[in-house]
Amino acid sequence: MIEPDFLHTTRTAYDTWAARYAELFANGLEDFPLDRAMIGAFAAFVHAEGGGPVADLGCGPGHVTSLLDSLGLDVSGIDLSPEMIAIARAARPDLRFDVGSMTALDLADGKLAGAMARYSIIHTPPEQLPAVCAEFRRVLAPGGHLLVAFQAHDDPSALTESFDHKVALAYRWSPDRVAALLTETGFTEKARLVRAPLTDERPFPHAHLLLTKT
Ligand SMILES: C[S@@+](CC[C@H](N)C(=O)[O-])C[C@H]1O[C@@H](n2cnc3c(N)ncnc32)[C@H](O)[C@@H]1O
Repeated sequence: MIEPDFLHTTRTAYDTWAARYAELFANGLEDFPLDRAMIGAFAAFVHAEGGGPVADLGCGPGHVTSLLDSLGLDVSGIDLSPEMIAIARAARPDLRFDVGSMTALDLADGKLAGAMARYSIIHTPPEQLPAVCAEFRRVLAPGGHLLVAFQAHDDPSALTESFDHKVALAYRWSPDRVAALLTETGFTEKARLVRAPLTDERPFPHAHLLLTKT
């Protein structure tokens, strides 16, 4: 099968940036208490449903996979970039990390109790997002939980605005529009957080959407 250009471009860019990205997040999410709160809520909902396998989709160097592990989840990481996966494996040889794409996951239907896509949909061209949302739904069990985080914008008339991300062309998304798309795909929204940027982030809001597969 021919790979879409955006996957090749994104993989190559993150392969180049992987070591620097890992350094930037060497402290994990210490400086991101609101993000940790949403991740904690996600973990609590997965536990409340009896637990089960969880995937960190677009896990990068694995720092958030590690956080999910520390919250008692049975978690593994998947990322497009082999360099990111090599760093993640070196940091946490006890956890499972695989190279793969959210556009076509090598996971059986209904396999997961939870899936997280933290800043990993941001390089997906808008016309490809419905297929990625459908893939999230396919791999989750009924009642499974999904946490999606992304740079946001507040004009609901537009699904996306592109921005000059350091690594590769990226898109900010309307939280309302992404939530509506996921609802149409077969999810129920449980909660959302839209937080202000931190001082060293670009001046965009950041959104976390927590949903359940209906
Ligand atoms: C901004 S980083 C976020 C990393 C990590 N989730 C975090 O919270 O810091 C985006 C990551 O998503 C990965 N990614 C982008 N598109 C992907 C896709 N289609 N499938 C899997 N991973 C993807 C990139 O390789 C990169 O490691």
